[in-house]
Amino acid sequence: MRKISWIIKDENFDKSRIEFNGNKYMLGNGYIGYRGTMEEYSKEGLTACVLPSVYDKVEGKWREPVNLPNGFFLKLYCDGEPLSVLSSKIEQHEQGIDVRNAVHFRKTIFQTKTGKKVQLLIERFLSSDNVHIMCMKCSFICKEDSKIIIQIGFDDNIWDLNGPHLRKVKVDKKDEILILETVTKELGVNIFEGEAIKCDFQFIEYTDEANTLRELEVNAKAGKEYELTRYISIYSSKDCYNPEEKVIKTCSDVLKDGYDKLYEIHSQIWNNKWEASDVKLTGDDEAQLALRYSIYQLLSIAPTHSDKVSIPARGLSGQVYKGAVFWDTEMFMLPFFNATNPKIARNLLMYRYYTLDGARRKASEYGYRGAFYAWESQDTGDDACTLFNVADVFTGRPMRTYFRDKQIHISADVVYGIWEYYKHTGDFSIFIDGGAEVILECARFFYSYAYYKPEKRRYELLDVTGPDEYHERVGNNAFTNVMVKHTLEIAISVLELLSNKKKEFFDKLIIKLNYFKDIENIKNMNEALYIPKPDAETDLIEQFDGYFKLEDLSLDKLKSRMLNKNEYLGGGNGIATTTRILKQADVVTMLNLFKDNYSSEVKKANWEYYEKRTEHGSTLSACMYGMLAANLEKTQCAYNYFIKTAFVDLNGNAKQYVGNLYIGGTHPAANGGAWMDVVYGFSGITIDENKISINPHLPLKWQEVNFKLVYKGIKFNIKITKNTIIIDCVGKEPKKILVNIKNEDVYIKAGDTIEVSY
Ligand code: BGC
Repeated sequence: MRKISWIIKDENFDKSRIEFNGNKYMLGNGYIGYRGTMEEYSKEGLTACVLPSVYDKVEGKWREPVNLPNGFFLKLYCDGEPLSVLSSKIEQHEQGIDVRNAVHFRKTIFQTKTGKKVQLLIERFLSSDNVHIMCMKCSFICKEDSKIIIQIGFDDNIWDLNGPHLRKVKVDKKDEILILETVTKELGVNIFEGEAIKCDFQFIEYTDEANTLRELEVNAKAGKEYELTRYISIYSSKDCYNPEEKVIKTCSDVLKDGYDKLYEIHSQIWNNKWEASDVKLTGDDEAQLALRYSIYQLLSIAPTHSDKVSIPARGLSGQVYKGAVFWDTEMFMLPFFNATNPKIARNLLMYRYYTLDGARRKASEYGYRGAFYAWESQDTGDDACTLFNVADVFTGRPMRTYFRDKQIHISADVVYGIWEYYKHTGDFSIFIDGGAEVILECARFFYSYAYYKPEKRRYELLDVTGPDEYHERVGNNAFTNVMVKHTLEIAISVLELLSNKKKEFFDKLIIKLNYFKDIENIKNMNEALYIPKPDAETDLIEQFDGYFKLEDLSLDKLKSRMLNKNEYLGGGNGIATTTRILKQADVVTMLNLFKDNYSSEVKKANWEYYEKRTEHGSTLSACMYGMLAANLEKTQCAYNYFIKTAFVDLNGNAKQYVGNLYIGGTHPAANGGAWMDVVYGFSGITIDENKISINPHLPLKWQEVNFKLVYKGIKFNIKITKNTIIIDCVGKEPKKILVNIKNEDVYIKAGDTIEVSY
């Protein structure tokens, strides 16, 4: 029985929602992403079984992750007539996901041209126990006696944005397992898919001409239910040296276990995931479901199986944005994992260590030292972002953009992520295992990027782009300068920590990186880096040098100047570039990250000033305004921004195109932002190196928020009502933790419960 508070579903079929539902109902297990499409769809239904760890580039096009021949393909034919929601008469239809168990379900009653009725029920999941397995249970009932053909196997009519990427090598059948071998065109990665099936009925089997599909023919009796279970296994030569053997073995093993057992294990793992990460909201059912959905998204795309991959900006919902990893991961998703599943957080950060050489190559390509991380990072860490990354909607011509060249804050975001992880977990080994090298190389990069202005006796960061991408190549972007200073401080702290705690390692690292002079350099730069300050009269922090001289106009006025709804407002001659309208939270993001360094007056003045001027052209923006608004006790505003963020993949209000570029898909940064709004914003949690602080401001509707946190290996259960805060410290750890509740310090250790009224 599915619990209603965990179900997201559509109760009819609407052709115009094919693309949107493909995102909304997607499944993932970190290794595979599978879009929420109907089993009978091919390319036209934007079906995609994405393998995010395997990228491929077709000459002259963008490199992107591969979509595999679709192993979940299934189409019924009734007396020879194909049944599809796209072409058949539908008497009833339902599609949804149960986010508690990460299962996709559909039910359709088709009516054939001769008036016969066939009910099709399917559920499917991507195993979270063994990420190389996808499972499906399908049953059908005919109202009248009919000849049914079930077409299954691998549909290789694949949807690609920049393909085709795969060459079919062979199709084979071993011990009733259908095996498909493909190879990527660029790097020759071999991918094997296998399909094993189990039926509770007799059938005659045929194969199609290409051999990739098989057809099972059944003389179905009226009213009888026929059940089929399918097990698909996927391995590539990047995973192991014998992917074919692995596929065959996995298929035959799971066939023995059967669907129910596999489902039970999968569901138990999801139960454990929710146990660690669910956030319960009492008094607001809609927000509860949207928040759970956001958490579901994060949990289903997180790499549990490897520390060599991270989470792309569009999750595992397809090939948009080249399947690339952006700052979205460290700044918007990592906080959730730091607090609920530090092992995954560590995997995400180790990915940056494994791609450090790519970041070094990028720095040296531009003539800098150290590590300049890719704006769009794939498997090697080389930048997938092109110099002409957006096409002009009017001319169709590629536009020169400077995301790749000038968003230097990416290296600071990576360092910020490592330090946040360390603050949450106290896991010093992250530095030894590569974190220290990443941090030092990023600090070195910033030193080589900065300009020292002798007349002002300060370092400046000129020719950069901050989070607000509508203003490229600016000087002293406040967000960037503050983040770079933070990087330098972290580098100095890590050097100190290492030299005190791991002297031998420290000495070796300094020699390995030839970092002798750099220590002095980064210390000097840290002392003298220019940080834009709040204006003494207005409290405003100028987003970058000269921002206040730009044309000041309302967002509506700017929009009235648009000639095309998809035109890009930034770039060379975008209409926002000469104005104060910003794409997304910039100064406000910085104020969230460093909220204790600024007074409430400063935060308020800047929030109010920049909010009016923000287009929210990125789904990363609303959560930042929401979080700071909660901190400023602008609770209703905070709530509105939170709702906007939490519903982003449920109502499909996000942009689908920039210029001619398709940017649809899921929005995991916003999903992480929804969690941050609740935990950091409304619940007012701040995590420091030595303490947790709590200062809640709940929205009017909410009677209670209840969530879990892991801090330095200790588990906390935090319950916040309108007037009480209850903290349970779970486990046996004797260590005392300092908790600051509404400005009062208390110590808590495992086994303790503290209740404070406020
Ligand atoms: C945003 C970036 C973001 C990227 C991927 C862009 O629209 O401006 O900040 O990293 O999308 O989500």
